[in-house]
Amino acid sequence: MLPSSAQPGTGAASISGRGVIKSFGGFTAVDGLSLDIRSGEFVSLIGPSGCGKSTFMLMAAGLMPISSGELLVNGKPLTSPLTDIGIVFQDHLLLEFRTALENVMLQAEIRGLPLAPAKERALELFAKLGISHAVDRYPKQLSGGMRQRVSIARALIHDPSVLMMDEPFGALDAITRTQIRHDLEMLWLETGKTVVFITHSIDEAIGLSDRVLVMSPTPGRVVDEIAIELPRPRPAHLGDYPSFNAYADRIHDAFRRFGVIKY
Ligand SMILES: Nc1ncnc2c1ncn2[C@@H]1O[C@H](COP(=O)(O)OP(=O)(O)OP(=O)(O)O)[C@@H](O)[C@H]1O
Ligand SMILES: [Mg+2]
Repeated sequence: MLPSSAQPGTGAASISGRGVIKSFGGFTAVDGLSLDIRSGEFVSLIGPSGCGKSTFMLMAAGLMPISSGELLVNGKPLTSPLTDIGIVFQDHLLLEFRTALENVMLQAEIRGLPLAPAKERALELFAKLGISHAVDRYPKQLSGGMRQRVSIARALIHDPSVLMMDEPFGALDAITRTQIRHDLEMLWLETGKTVVFITHSIDEAIGLSDRVLVMSPTPGRVVDEIAIELPRPRPAHLGDYPSFNAYADRIHDAFRRFGVIKY
């Protein structure tokens, strides 16, 4: 039985936080974080290292309890791990002894999905992510970008309505990031999932998001919220839009206020 907060087929979930606090012993990692992520929206969380982004993601996925405040999914308090969700963790976490396809299929196996259609869907995702040639390769035979694409396919194999991604492209070179960003945007445009995307990259946040939520340094909370009104799909060179620079300035300014950027 799936938790009522994340039934598949009921449309993409909305996620809200109200004054969320997370403490580890005497240390407060997240302090009064409030936000609203609407159904089907692509939202980025951007903030300095250690501000509580991963912690928030784990709490919003129902994988870590909050200390106080309220976390709501589809308007209901989150009381158990979400199931209608795909997560791309900060590290790709692929099993070295399974091929790329077998790694993706693991998710289907664990969830008890019928394997033949799941394999078809996996191959379709490999094609959309431009890694059809990597299906039978083991993780150590893949480049960093290919491994990240495999972990994205693994997060999507069961067609979840919510996708959470924790700095999925952090270890990739700028050229690969530009392409993979576009591939992710196209996948999202096709499927309308709710996406929570964690990043350190201002370009990436603006390039992908409907809204960018800017977080303070530790203890983390949302200090600015910027609606990105740029046409989709977005170009590789975002600087062509004058408003891109205005959005980037606003994010820089938020970090200047907190002394994270000093010039
Ligand atoms: N299980 C834990 N026990 C104790 N402290 C923790 C735990 N998990 C996270 N923290 C602390 O909480 C703070 C927030 O950590 P978190 O991993 O959420 O940061 P982050 O914003 O994701 O950083 P990064 O951008 O470097 O990934 C950090 O100071 C971290 O040391
Ligand atoms: Mg993190």
